[in-house]
Amino acid sequence: MEQKTVAVAGGSGFIGRAIVRRMAATGGIKARVLTRNPDAVRLDSPNVEFARADIAEPASLAAALNGADAIVDAVQFEGYPVENPARGQTFERVDYGGVIALLAAAKQAGVAQFIYISGAAANEASSHPGFRAKGRAERAIRESGLSYTTFRPSLVYGPEDKVVSSLAKALKFAPIFGVPGTGRQKVQPVLVDDLAACVTLAIQGRGRNGTYEVGGPDLMTFDEMMRIIMNASGHRRPLFHIPEGLMRAIGGLAEKLPKPMLSRDAVTFVTADNACDIGPLREEFGINLTPARVGMAYLSKK
Ligand SMILES: NC(=O)c1ccc[n+]([C@@H]2O[C@H](COP(=O)([O-])OP(=O)(O)OC[C@H]3O[C@@H](n4cnc5c(N)ncnc54)[C@H](OP(=O)(O)O)[C@@H]3O)[C@@H](O)[C@H]2O)c1
Repeated sequence: MEQKTVAVAGGSGFIGRAIVRRMAATGGIKARVLTRNPDAVRLDSPNVEFARADIAEPASLAAALNGADAIVDAVQFEGYPVENPARGQTFERVDYGGVIALLAAAKQAGVAQFIYISGAAANEASSHPGFRAKGRAERAIRESGLSYTTFRPSLVYGPEDKVVSSLAKALKFAPIFGVPGTGRQKVQPVLVDDLAACVTLAIQGRGRNGTYEVGGPDLMTFDEMMRIIMNASGHRRPLFHIPEGLMRAIGGLAEKLPKPMLSRDAVTFVTADNACDIGPLREEFGINLTPARVGMAYLSKK
C-alpha cells in the first residue's frame, strides 16, 4: 500500500508530537512536522520528516504542504490561554487566522483532508474570544469543501504535558494549593495517546466530515481531578479556592504588562466547564478510553 504523507502543523508541540509518533508507528503514514524551528525538534523515526512553516507566513505553508495528502492543525500560541497582542499571540490570529491560512495553503497544494484539534468549549457564538475563534475556525473548515474531521478535546494530559505536570510540580513545592474558582468546574481529562489514536484513525478514513468531542471516560470536577493528581504524584496537600472575582481583578492588572502571565479571558478559560459527550467518538472510532487514575500514573515521577 502506498504511504500517505500527513503534515502536522504544531507537530513539535505536546499533542502534535503524540500524533506524529502514533502515525509514524503505523508504517503506512509519513508524518511531516511543520515547525518554525526544524533544527530544534527531536523526533527520531524513519517515517518522520520536517518542514519549516509559520502560520503567519503563507508562502512557507504552501511550500511545506507540497505533496501532502492531509494536514493536521495542532497549533497553539506560546503562553496560551493568555494572549499577548504585541507579539501577535491572540486567539483571532493563531486559532482562527491559522486555520484560514492552512486551509488556503491546503487548497493551493491540493491537500484533500483537514484534521483540526479544536477544543471542548469551541462555540462561534461565545463571548470568550478563544472559544469563539475555535468555533469560527471549525465553521471555515466545514465550509471549505475539503474532507475534514474536527476533534474537540477537554483537558489533554500525558507524560510531556504542561498543565497536569505543572499542577503536580506545584503540589510538590507548595504546602497548600489554590484551585481556580469554585473547583466545581467540570473537566474530562483525556490521555494524549487516546486522542492521537483517533486522529490516526481519522487519517485512515474514520469520522469523515464529523466533529467529535474528546474526553476521558470519567467526568469530574476540577477538585476531583486534583485529588487524582495528588494520589498519582504522592504530593497530597490541602486545597483552597481562589475566588473567580479576585482572579479576574488580578488578571485585569496583569494583562496590561508587556508579558502578561494572567488575563481575564484566561480566568474564564480555566473556570469554564469542559465536559464532553464521548458517545459519538466511541461509536465512530471504537476507542477504549483510558481512565485518569490509570493514565496519570506517570505523575509518580514528578
Ligand atoms: N493541551 C490541552 O490540554 C488541549 C486541550 C484542548 C485543546 N487543545 C488544542 O490542541 C492544540 C495543540 O495544543 P498543544 O497543547 O499540543 O500545544 P503546544 O504544546 O503549546 O504546541 C503548540 C505548537 O504550535 C506551534 N506553533 C506556535 N505558533 C506557531 C506559528 N506561528 N506557526 C506555526 N506553528 C506554530 C508550535 O510549533 P513551533 O514552536 O515548533 O513552531 C508548537 O508545535 C491547540 O489548538 C490547543 O488549543 C489543547
